[in-house]
Amino acid sequence: MCGITGYTGKENALPILMEGLKKLEYRGYDSAGVAIFDEGNIKVIKTRGRLTVLEDKLNGLTISTTCGIGHTRWATHGEPTDENSHPHLSNNGRFAVVHNGIIENYRELKEKLTGKGYVFLSDTDTEVIAHLIDYYYNGDIVEALIKVRTKIRGSYALGILNSELPGEIIAARKDSPLIAGTSEDGNFIASDIPAILSYTRDYYIIGDDEIARIRPEGIEIFNSDYELVPKSPLRVDWSVESAEKCGYKHFMLKEIHEQPRALINTVSPRVSDDCGIDLEINVTPEFLTDINRIHIMACGSAAHVGQVGKYIIERLARIPVECDLASEFRYRFPILKKNDLCIVISQSGETADTLAALREAKRRGVRVLSIVNVVGSTIARESDEVLYTWAGPEIAVATTKAYSTQLSLVYLIAVHIAKTRGEISDSDARRLVSEIKELPEKLNQVLAKTAELQYLSSRFYNLRDIFFIGRGVDFAVALEGSLKLKEISYIRSEAYAAGELKHGTIALIEEGSLVIALVTQTALAEKMLGNIREVKARGARVLTIATQATAEAVSEASDYCLMLPCCYDMFTPSLTVAALQLFAYYIAAARGCDVDKPKNLAKSVTVE
Ligand code: F6R
Repeated sequence: MCGITGYTGKENALPILMEGLKKLEYRGYDSAGVAIFDEGNIKVIKTRGRLTVLEDKLNGLTISTTCGIGHTRWATHGEPTDENSHPHLSNNGRFAVVHNGIIENYRELKEKLTGKGYVFLSDTDTEVIAHLIDYYYNGDIVEALIKVRTKIRGSYALGILNSELPGEIIAARKDSPLIAGTSEDGNFIASDIPAILSYTRDYYIIGDDEIARIRPEGIEIFNSDYELVPKSPLRVDWSVESAEKCGYKHFMLKEIHEQPRALINTVSPRVSDDCGIDLEINVTPEFLTDINRIHIMACGSAAHVGQVGKYIIERLARIPVECDLASEFRYRFPILKKNDLCIVISQSGETADTLAALREAKRRGVRVLSIVNVVGSTIARESDEVLYTWAGPEIAVATTKAYSTQLSLVYLIAVHIAKTRGEISDSDARRLVSEIKELPEKLNQVLAKTAELQYLSSRFYNLRDIFFIGRGVDFAVALEGSLKLKEISYIRSEAYAAGELKHGTIALIEEGSLVIALVTQTALAEKMLGNIREVKARGARVLTIATQATAEAVSEASDYCLMLPCCYDMFTPSLTVAALQLFAYYIAAARGCDVDKPKNLAKSVTVE
């Protein structure tokens, strides 16, 4: 959600800013702009639309500059227009600001600043920052920014240029991601690592409430008392290639196929050759034994992982689990007790609602374990314990490999807690871990069904709505399959617990409707057969996804049956989801959709 880049150094800044913005396109945007130094003044070029439109505007210019900031905007306050695009200038042109986040009290600040003679040219919340900095500026921009921070409420990552100091970028953040990259040829700011990865692997995390001064010769980071904060740079351990498409048509397809490797990378460091589990977290067996209730909080697909987790943890560890959408949890006055454990799940580690839910849990004295993909992200830093999913960078907006690796960690957590509490024997735990270790190979077998899934997609790509049904963990996966389909193909789609159909939804089934029935739970296959017959009797076509163990019960009643390898019932979501991801992908591709950047969506949702 909004992308920020900045560069100061020896090289021509514009191509670096533009390349960085391209690498951040996956975050979602509707306008773009840059601010650069041009003969002692700040020049802003910005436009509504894609980066190609900005490129066209820049092509006509003959500016060579070694310092600038860039931005892709995902509109929140004010429509996507040229005026509302970032950067925003103070009225005297001294300060240019790019911003990711939301300034909650911008209305009252705008009123105050208007009263002092400032003229607003946009409808954005961001413009108040440019004018506020100008208002408090007394020759030292860091001092001004420290003051500004006491006046604004909300979330922000900021990149600022000051026309009095060409070659210098000031950056600051609160609850929105921002890093500072460093290399011999110059220094950078960026919302995410892919934006700087072609130039450097070394970066600093700018902490919440910190301010960074980025100059060609170095980076200084200050706290809110204007004291230098000593920091060592971190090193990115993944390659440029892992953030490129590598011959795949879309990042999403590449990331779907990366799942077996991502699962191995996530699981193998935590399990021994003889199938023992070591999660390497600082949680004692006594704590696990005493857990009263588990709360899982997340958004979107990560919340769907939580839904699967509820079934598995309750089944294996016999602990009550509540799975909450983070945006609901934070406002519903949840009942939390001392011996509860909160698990938050997030790919980006920056999702605003998930972060707020985490903070609420911590404020109430409950221990938080997070499952996060982005190393060093805010959620990872603020949790008591972190389990990283080693999925590598996920660029496509629709999550695939992050979802799968999150699932694998939920399985390990469930088995580990169940064993520690004596709900399953040591040998059962080892058998389950062995099942988890076999998932990458079985996942490869599902991915090898590409031709079958492509064929099925070609039959259904022009439908108006598609329904998903399932029971138990299949219902939880149905939610994810349905979300994947709707977000990238724009086909209306609903997921229902199959037993719930006849309580209302079945009214929507008509001649030719497509119902995707997930039937991987042996004990529930007969029940699903009943549901398949119900919808078929009303004219639906049924695509069943079953395992070799359940197919016999349901394949004859279905129009099509896609067969998955056998595995432990509770772990089938890892296989089912891959088939649903490919199905959604090929449908969206057949409809000519922008698969990696679906409309209205952003990769990292850093606002509420
Ligand atoms: C859907 C998708 C979103 C995210 C959600 C949470 O494909 O990617 O629903 O799962 O926005 O994001 P994270 O995991 O970054 O907290």
